[in-house]
Parts: sequence; structure tokens; C-alpha cells
Amino acid sequence: MLEELNCCVDMNGPTLDAHYWNSQYISNTTGWDLGMPSPALVAFIDTLEKKDIRILIPGCGNAYEAEYLLEAGFSNITLIDISAELVKKLQERFAGNANLTVILGDFFELKGQFDVILEQTFFCALQPFMREHYVQKMRELLDENGILAGLMFNRNFEKPGPPFGGSANDYQKLFEANGLEMVEIENCLNSVAPRANSEVFVKAKKIIGVFDVKNPCCNI
Ligand SMILES: C[S@@+](CC[C@H](N)C(=O)[O-])C[C@H]1O[C@@H](n2cnc3c(N)ncnc32)[C@H](O)[C@@H]1O
Repeated sequence: MLEELNCCVDMNGPTLDAHYWNSQYISNTTGWDLGMPSPALVAFIDTLEKKDIRILIPGCGNAYEAEYLLEAGFSNITLIDISAELVKKLQERFAGNANLTVILGDFFELKGQFDVILEQTFFCALQPFMREHYVQKMRELLDENGILAGLMFNRNFEKPGPPFGGSANDYQKLFEANGLEMVEIENCLNSVAPRANSEVFVKAKKIIGVFDVKNPCCNI
């Protein structure tokens, strides 16, 4: 299934498929990897009270935040990543831990419902033409009261991506046009040093109503 993934083909750049991401992990070309849980995500996690909420980390990478969540007592964590090389290591690292599931797969094919979805350098790793699909998929995966929270770059990059940049204004429009309300979008004050003044922290939730009408013609 992963070999057939053709979601991410762009004539102007590399094909950002399972093979591409796997190669990055095999060659250790992982410049995005913080080597520790993201301070901004840690601060957000610390605001969560219920420990049994369903938490998803898509495009999880080395998932330092998952370790933080486990140490804090969270008991229903799902990680998904498309790189087999990475996921094999994660599955070994978290083997036997009943509080965490590691899935090798494509986020866009994931099924389920989550109370919290954590974003960090997953959105910016996708080709920009995937962005509407990203928001729609997030909407599908969020429970009615669920929240998508995390970091997004509020800047552009000189080199062709990934990462692909963007602006807070564009994200606000993108999210709201695709059924997610931006509850918060603020300059991030606790970014890691290389990302200082270039990220926003976002919180978004489902807009209930018009986006749920599957077949407007017959819903009079
Ligand atoms: C830039 S890395 C970020 C990793 C991690 N979030 C972090 O902050 O360290 C992007 C990650 O998304 C994964 N990825 C890319 N496309 C994906 C997809 N369609 N489904 C699941 N994971 C995907 C890649 O394998 C990679 O681990």
C-alpha cells in the first residue's frame, strides 16, 4: 500500500512519499529533529487534565513528545508515520507499552477519532497542494470537542521545500474554508532557538454544521 502512495507528487520537486521519507531516516538527514520534546508542545500538554484522552501525533518522527506524554501519565497515545525505517525503531522503543500504539501508514488513510492531535513540522512537510486535504482529514479525525494543537511556520523559505512555509493569515483562511475554526493563532514565545520568531502556535477545533452536510441537495 505504501509503495503505491501517490498523494505527494509535484512536478517541481521530489516526490514526498514513503520512499523519500525513509531515505531521510536511513541517511540520517533529519534536520527537523529537535532531539527533545518541543517546549511549546510540552507547555500545551501540561494544560491537559484528563489522562485517558485519545491523542494522535501524525508524522510523528522520533516522537519525543510521546515519551513526555507517557511520563506524564497519558494512556491513549497513537503515533503514525509513513517511514518504515523510523516506525520499526519506534515499535522497538515502545514495545510492550499498552498506553501507546505506533502505526506504519499514511496519515491520509488513518481512521479513528481523537480528542487531541499534536502538530509539529508535519504540515510543513507536505506539498502545499495537500493543505486542504490535510485540514479536511484533521477535521475527520477530530472528535466533536477535539482540538488540533501545535506549531506552524509563519515564514517562507528561500530553498524549495520541505519545509514549506506560509503565513498565519493564510492558515486562518485555509482552516476556516475547510471546516476548522482557529481558536488560537499566536506568535510562539517558546520556540526552540533556530525557529524563534518564525512560528505560530495554533489551536483549532471542528466547525459543526454546514461541513457535516454530506449531500446538501437532499437535506432540505
Ligand atoms: C519533517 S518530519 C517531522 C517529524 C516530527 N513531527 C518532528 O517534529 O520531529 C515529517 C514527518 O512526517 C512523516 N510523513 C510524511 N508524510 C506522511 C504521511 N502522508 N503520513 C504519515 N507520515 C508522514 C515523515 O516520515 C516524517 O517523519
